[in-house]
Order: sequence, then C-alpha cells, then structure tokens
Amino acid sequence: MNLKDFYAKLSVFVMVVFFMLCCQHQDKPIPPKTDPVFDIHSFAREAIIHHAELDLEVDFITRRIIGVVTYQIEPRGQENIFFDTQGPDVTQVKVDGKQSQFTFGLEDKILGKALIVPIKSTSKSVEISYTTQADAAALQWLTPQQTAGKKHPFLFSQGQAILTRTWIPIQDSPGIRFRYKARVKVPKELMAVMSATNVESKSIDGIYHFEMPQPVPAYLIAIAVGDLQFEQLGPRSGVYAEPSMLAKAVYEFSDTEKMINTAESLYGPYAWDRYDLLVLPPSFPFGGMENPRLTFVTPTVIAGDRSLVSLIAHELAHSWSGNYVTNADWNDFWINEGFTTYFERRIMESLYGKEYTDMLAVLAKKDWVAANRDIGSTNKDTHLHLDLKGRNPDDGMNSIAYEKGAFMLQMLEDTVGRDTFDLFLNKYFSQHAFQSMNSAKLLDYMNHHLPIDSLRIDLKEWIYNPGIPANAENPVSNRFEQVDTAYQKMFKSGKWAIDGVKKWSSHEWVRFISQIQDTAKPEQLKAIDKAYHLTVSGNSEILNIWFEKAIRTGYSKEIMAEIEAFLIQIGRRKYLVPIYRALRGKGQIETARRIYLQAKPNYHSIAVNTIDQLLKE
Ligand code: BES
Ligand code: ZN
Repeated sequence: MNLKDFYAKLSVFVMVVFFMLCCQHQDKPIPPKTDPVFDIHSFAREAIIHHAELDLEVDFITRRIIGVVTYQIEPRGQENIFFDTQGPDVTQVKVDGKQSQFTFGLEDKILGKALIVPIKSTSKSVEISYTTQADAAALQWLTPQQTAGKKHPFLFSQGQAILTRTWIPIQDSPGIRFRYKARVKVPKELMAVMSATNVESKSIDGIYHFEMPQPVPAYLIAIAVGDLQFEQLGPRSGVYAEPSMLAKAVYEFSDTEKMINTAESLYGPYAWDRYDLLVLPPSFPFGGMENPRLTFVTPTVIAGDRSLVSLIAHELAHSWSGNYVTNADWNDFWINEGFTTYFERRIMESLYGKEYTDMLAVLAKKDWVAANRDIGSTNKDTHLHLDLKGRNPDDGMNSIAYEKGAFMLQMLEDTVGRDTFDLFLNKYFSQHAFQSMNSAKLLDYMNHHLPIDSLRIDLKEWIYNPGIPANAENPVSNRFEQVDTAYQKMFKSGKWAIDGVKKWSSHEWVRFISQIQDTAKPEQLKAIDKAYHLTVSGNSEILNIWFEKAIRTGYSKEIMAEIEAFLIQIGRRKYLVPIYRALRGKGQIETARRIYLQAKPNYHSIAVNTIDQLLKE
C-alpha cells in the first residue's frame, strides 16, 4: 500500500470513527411527553419495556459492572424508545438482533440523560451493552475492612428513588413494570443475590441465575454480592448474612414467618412466593429497603432483643403497599410509605398487642410534629402529594409521607370502623394488584368505596394542604405515662436510680430521652449515663437519640469518642442527620467536618449527598 492509499484509508477510518462518536453523543432535546400519566423523573414515554434479561459481570477490581440488558418492548407506534441513563457507558445497541444507531438526549443534572433508540412499530427487542462507572450512585463497593468478616469485598445496590439508571440503562419510572431474568458472574468465593428467586448456597463457578416472575418497576431491581450464607426462618422465609452475623440475625428475625401470616390475614395473599431478608454491612443508608422477595436491612436493627423488628413489619408491608400497588410517580411517595406505615402498625398490633403498638404510634406522632415544625407547617413539603418538579425526589421525600399518610388512614379507620376499613383495604389491594396509584385516583376510589361524604371527612385537606389536620389522632401510651412520671421524679429529686426502669424496653428509653430538655445540665446527663450506661447501649435507636441529646445539652464533650465511632461505623442516614445537625447547631461544625472526612468513605452516595449539603460552607 503506497502512502496515498494509506492516507486515503486513514481518512475514511477517521471519518467513520468521527461519525460513530458523533452519532452516539449527539445531544438533542426530547419531544414532550403525551402520556396521560407521566413521571417527571423519567425520560420514558409511550414505547415501553415489559421484560428484561440481564447478563452481568461484577468486577471488584475496577468497581464496574459489565452488562448486557435485553428488553422485550411494546412500541405503541413510536419511532423511538427512550431509556433513562445516568453514567453507564453504552457501547452497543441492537434492535431485533441487528446493530442499531443510538443517541442521547440533553443531560439533566438530576435525571441523567435519555438513551434514544430508533424502533419500528414491529420491533420486538432492544439489547444494550454497557459498563457502569466506578462511582455509579446506586452501587456501594465495600472493601473487606468495611464488612463484618473483614476478608471479602461486598457490593450492594440501592435503586429507590431514581438510582437504578446509574447501573442499568432502563425505563426508571415506578409506573413501568416488567418481569426480569438475570445471569450474574461474580468472583467464585462470593455469592450473588437479587430481588428475585435466590439460591441457598454458593455456586461452584460464581455464576448465578435469577428470575423475577412478577412484574416490578425499575427501582425494585436490586443486587448484592458478598460472602453470604443462608439460613431458613420458616417455610417461606429466611435470612442471608455474612457468616459472623447469621446466628444473631436468625434470632432477631425469628418472628418473620408469623409476620407474613399476620399480614396475609389482614390484607390478603402474599404475592411474591418467598420473603427473605438480607443483612447488609453497616454502611447501608437506610433501615430497610423493600426489594421484592429479598428485603435489604441494616445490621443496626439487630439489637439482640428483637426490639426493633417493626422495621421488618414495615418492609414486609411494602409487599402490598408499594410493591403490589405502587405510587405512579415520586410525588405520591406517600401512597407507598403512608399505607405501609399504617399496615406496619397493624401487623405489630396483631403480633405484640395494642399496648406495644401504642408506644410506636406515640413516638411516631412526636416525630411527625417535629418534622412538621422543622419543615414549616405551611411549607408545601408537608403536603402528602408533593411537587418534586425540578428536584431530586430524594430531597423532598421526608417523614411526612410516612406519618401524615399513616395518621390519615388511622383517622379513616377510627371514623368508619376497623372492620369496614379492613374490607376496604383488602379490596383496594386486590383491585389494584401490580398497578400504580396516584393521589387523584386514590381520592376517587376512596370516595366511591368509603362513606366519606356522609362523615364529612376532608381528605383533600390531608392530601393537598400543609400541616397537621385537626382530626389527626393523638395516640396515648400507658407505658409512656409511667416513663414520664419517672422522668419527672428523677429530674425533680436528682435521684436517678428508680425502680422499674430496669425493665424498660428501648422504646421507653427513647421516650425518656426524647423528654430531656436541651437546657438540661451536662451533669444530669452524666448522672443518668452513670446509672443506666446509655452511651454504651447496644441499641442503635437509644444511641442515636442519646447522642443527639448529649450534643444539644453539652454533655457530648465527655463521650465524643463514642459519638465519633458511631458516625464512622454506621452509614444509616436517619441516624447521621440528627447527630451532624446537632453538632452544626452547637457551633461544632468543624468537629462535624473532621469526623465526616474520616467517615465519608463508609457512606453510600445517598448519605454522602445529604451530609455534604448539611455541612457545606
Ligand atoms: N422504601 C423505604 C426506604 C427509602 C425511602 C429508600 C426513600 C429510598 C427513598 C423503606 O421502606 C423505609 O421506609 N425504610 C425506613 C424504615 C422504616 C421502618 C420507616 C428507613 O430506612 O428508615
Ligand atoms: Zn418504607
């Protein structure tokens, strides 16, 4: 080949490469959505997916997942199909097995960018090859040091609300459901589990096969990989955990099977065959996540005395409210969480009695009142139906959805009677199985199926107005009345060792600590600590509120080492926020920043985003 030929070939080659790069990365605006119900947090519209097949390789060295995802699609007459992506490098797209062009929409800081693939009305499948980024927001890659066993690395994903798009190019909207299958390859010494059918022991070759036969939205796809072992809890329940955590987990969660049976007797058949739990390392940013068939839980619920298992009741309840009937978009997050919180308390009441559940309800009401005050009782973020346009859903989804939602349902129960309300809920779940729900549709359904008019209940006020409606229940707890009496006695007399206190559950302790005024003297907290050793409690709920109070009252100077250890060890956002906020509020932002610097590598991106905000200049 002479030089001229060579240059001619080279220039063709350069042009081809240039064309390929161009057509992959050309940014263009996306046509407006025309769906009657659309989700402002997804680029998906009209043409939808209804089956996904994932082929994944998990690489701990580069901290990437190399994947191919094949979707069965329904074109609905559209020229393009739109997927949500935020991060994954898309290397190839095929439509019906043939290589296809693809483009990306304009990048949005919150939503990522649409992957746009041209299709025909007869197209059946779209195959996308991709590699995730090492910093994919859904994924947390842990070093062996960050696990219980200290020997093997660990990976987990957290999809809710809009993070699945950071590890799978997908239609990431809670209103779009599909079934999925997966083949996952991991290092041989590790086990992979997903929110799908799971095996009970490690495979020989590190290859795992999964199937989710019920249709789910993208935020409920989840994966975890680590040194895991399984143990049965009941005929359809079990726990996965690192070997050193397994026995403790089995003890703690021994009532799981009973919870499933109780939930079924309340609101109808469990739709997902099995209900297993996965105990994560302490960096898990939530208490629990209702991944179908496999709830992900923080190890901080393992208190040793089963005192925090309402969290399991909560995640289990999502199998109905959330996973079975799902909020259509994140503005109606309360339809997932409010129903679930109400349902959680009903499970707890059935299993552990009213006296026990009254304690949970009183604590919840106090939290609701505090959140309402903190956010501002006229702030739109205290509505049940949110307006998250232009915002990251994670920023607007606060505890109002849980408590205002649950208390609205409690108010309805009190007004129409429990039997009527339970019948209503049974029907509600079965009639909307595997469908999505929004506030308007729910309001309409309630108006048709409950005697709301004649009872003059203003549900619109609950859903679309701020603050705490006047007809919200004020729960009372006998046991807390005794705690309050003891509290008065102690603070009046200065004598801290009192009869009966030794028998308190963690909920009574949380109540007691929550009553302590910020103006209490550090010496008083010190005396309480001396009598009851709260600083070294093994119960994370007690530790959390105790550390917050210690900071607010100035006692923290003496126990800073323990507070620091807690913040470094635990990545559960609900615990981090009050402690960092208290430090900030007491003029100790420098201390907070110093601790955070050390703790940050242990936090999931969800917690990092929140704490970054909280401690920024
Ligand atoms: N689905 C939520 C967790 C979640 C909420 C993830 C918002 C992403 C965005 C889960 O069911 C939940 O509510 N967890 C609570 C525990 C519960 C007992 C209140 C938690 O993590 O604290
Ligand atoms: Zn929940």
